[in-house]
Amino acid sequence: MAMWVFGYGSLIWKAGFHYDERLVGFIKGYRRVFFQGSTDHRGTPEFPGRTVTLEPAEGEICWGVAYKIVGEEDQQIALTYLEVREKQYDQKAYVDFFTEPAAETPAVSGIMVYIGSPDKKINPNFLGPAPLEDIAKQIVQAEGPSGPNRDYLFQLEAALLQIGCKDKHVMDLANEVRRLLLQEDGPHNGL
Ligand code: SIN
Repeated sequence: MAMWVFGYGSLIWKAGFHYDERLVGFIKGYRRVFFQGSTDHRGTPEFPGRTVTLEPAEGEICWGVAYKIVGEEDQQIALTYLEVREKQYDQKAYVDFFTEPAAETPAVSGIMVYIGSPDKKINPNFLGPAPLEDIAKQIVQAEGPSGPNRDYLFQLEAALLQIGCKDKHVMDLANEVRRLLLQEDGPHNGL
């Protein structure tokens, strides 16, 4: 049986494992939010960064990509890799994935997705909501082993635009980060 993984964050632009098919589409009942703290990729324990997680939201959809992995060995390798990479996401959910906005029937049922839950007891890195400017300031400052937090945000914005998704939360945040960077360094930083 094929294994399917849904990516709505960095998995959109960097799978990091071998896959047989990649589909653009969405899941229902969730929205993408920069509420997850990152101390291992885009921040440090002293200065956590922010990455996306999914928040249940009635009537909303979240666009991303679905990866199909066929071979048993490839599935094992992908899962082992993802369990390390996504280790700060405490939940795995299995949801329906759609490719057509008008479709009633999912293109894939039971696709696996990593979620950082809001329960601080099991997800101590969860940061939750904050004013846009505060989230942007944190993203400007944070940097971790996978690179600056701002790069994660800008790469996500670009990857979403590439699949035809204009995510307001992501774009507003990216614009605010660009504004802060210009304010901080002046226009010579190339942004
Ligand atoms: C994902 O991409 O689906 C999970 C969040 C992330 O790793 O950025």
